[in-house]
Amino acid sequence: MSRQALIELLQARLGLDPDTLGPRVIDDAFADARRALAAPDDAALYRQVLMDGKAFSELSEHFVVPETWFFRAPEQFQDLVRFAREQPARRPLRILSLPASTGEEAYSAAIALLEAGLAAADIDVLGIDVSQTAIRRGSAGVFRPSALRGQPIPRPWLREADDGSLEADPLLRRCVRLRTGNALDPKLLQSEPGFDVIFCRNLLIYLRPEARAQLLHTLLSAARAPALVLAGQAEVLSSMSDALRPYEGGCPLSFMHGAPRAASAAQGLPKAAPRPTHRPAPAPARVPTPPAGSAPPATPSLAQEDIARAHQLADAGQVDQARAACLAHLGRQPADVDALYLLGLLESAAGNAEAAERAFTQVLYLDRDHLDAIEQRVGLAERRGAGDQARDLRARAARLRQRQREAAP
Ligand SMILES: C[S@@+](CC[C@H](N)C(=O)[O-])C[C@H]1O[C@@H](n2cnc3c(N)ncnc32)[C@H](O)[C@@H]1O
Repeated sequence: MSRQALIELLQARLGLDPDTLGPRVIDDAFADARRALAAPDDAALYRQVLMDGKAFSELSEHFVVPETWFFRAPEQFQDLVRFAREQPARRPLRILSLPASTGEEAYSAAIALLEAGLAAADIDVLGIDVSQTAIRRGSAGVFRPSALRGQPIPRPWLREADDGSLEADPLLRRCVRLRTGNALDPKLLQSEPGFDVIFCRNLLIYLRPEARAQLLHTLLSAARAPALVLAGQAEVLSSMSDALRPYEGGCPLSFMHGAPRAASAAQGLPKAAPRPTHRPAPAPARVPTPPAGSAPPATPSLAQEDIARAHQLADAGQVDQARAACLAHLGRQPADVDALYLLGLLESAAGNAEAAERAFTQVLYLDRDHLDAIEQRVGLAERRGAGDQARDLRARAARLRQRQREAAP
């Protein structure tokens, strides 16, 4: 009972969808939170976090996924630079990174712009995250070497300290501000001047549909049109709002807000039903043209070749090669539901249960009614002994089947 009340509190305040984390992670997170807050049981924990904002913040720390790294999805930083060049009058260029986690995204944006020749005074990056721990770490401007994920050190903006950590240059630090804040707070950005660029990557996937719509509304209200909006893996924002359209020539998850086009009464507001429609999700039809110096242009035929090859290899039982072809395809078409589903199957076949779970969760983010993905998640949940989650997912599959039967002619 108290456990359910705690979950509902996290849903209401953070927008969190517990389904995306799985029961084992949730159990561990509650155990850690009880230890940290010296609460003997869930009932005591609930009483504490309900009344005390600091205790709730401590609880939240155990449920957030702070994973981030420098230049994650590097082509989006190329889109940022191109947009900055297309908009020379917008200085300082105002950039929002929400959620910022430990700041790597915010600092990467500033580094990309400094390297493109913008003066530090012309770059204003604000990073916001609900995690106080993450913001405290990011504000120190010191990062673990793993934050580069094997990429070369972007000197002189980051330099190695004696202990191997990476320190941000003072000029770089001047471009970036980090603060705590809850993305679901409707007043979060009220006193901020408009933003030219918004990074909102890898948070929506953890949120409930209503919370996604609310966050998108907050973000779009804070954008200074035309604004560049950058989404995370599989987060197809244009399926959530009529006010967004693909950034022409950019990466498939880069969008424009408020650029001139046919007027729509719904512009600026999230669509009533924020989730994508039935599968398969339409793959982006345009041919992205990356800026000079980047990887060769992705053509639809190349992307199709990759996925056809992935299927062939999968049929031939060559799981690793099939997975590589599938990932190559998803690099070009990250919101291709069928490819994400195939990736889930391949990860599952390779014994990578967590990666499989992630892929099927992404499928269900794009298409809540993907029965096969729900069933795969049932199997995965059963295999790791997560009986409660398997039962919930089975019930969800049964409801969906029932709806489909009723809708059948
Ligand atoms: C996976 S990280 C993404 C960081 C970065 N945008 C990226 O793509 O690398 C997700 C972050 O969302 C933050 N978060 C979760 N719920 C939030 C909320 N309601 N408001 C603000 N930040 C939130 C977490 O603290 C975590 O740092």
